[in-house]
Amino acid sequence: MSTSLRALRSDITKLQIEAIVNAANSSLLGGGGVDGAIHRAAGPELIHECRLLGGCKTGEAKVTKGYRLQAKYIIHTVGPVWRGGANGEAELLASCYRRSVELAAERSLTSLAFPSISTGIYGYPIALAARVAIGSVRESLKQGSSIQEVVFCCFSPEDLLHYESILSETAA
Ligand code: AR6
Repeated sequence: MSTSLRALRSDITKLQIEAIVNAANSSLLGGGGVDGAIHRAAGPELIHECRLLGGCKTGEAKVTKGYRLQAKYIIHTVGPVWRGGANGEAELLASCYRRSVELAAERSLTSLAFPSISTGIYGYPIALAARVAIGSVRESLKQGSSIQEVVFCCFSPEDLLHYESILSETAA
């Protein structure tokens, strides 16, 4: 069965979905942007679990419970800081999406939502990042897994336009 990929505009903390992905930093101890919003919405128990994880490398991902979120799990991944594009940024960003899909599949999850990793504080240009995001998720799902629905959760209308146009252009 093929997985549905779609983009929507929302605050990711409000989604009714099994797992949401957090665009974290390597400490996994919280920050601004979507990371701050997720920690606020999940409540203080989240930081306690994160402290036990020992951080996370760029391009890698780790799972916690969702605590006060509707989502049962949070997959924390660390995107690359944009440094011009010739420093492995695309590979590292693709790895964030791939590892998140793998961790969700290992837990037999059926639905997963991503924010636009690295495109806020880390400065990755949205047009390039959206293409990497969609390409990496499509590739990762080719292995076949439990995942039936992947949502690209955009915070701005402009970001949504980028995702929608790439999704329709690359529809399977
Ligand atoms: N729901 C969905 N998307 C959101 C939300 C939200 N509630 N809030 C922001 N975004 P950013 P990064 C969008 O900066 O670039 C943190 O301090 C935002 O508009 O959150 O990967 C971490 O601790 C943008 O499109 O993450 C790291 O230090 C996207 O989420 C650093 O920021 C990602 O923006 C990571 O930077």
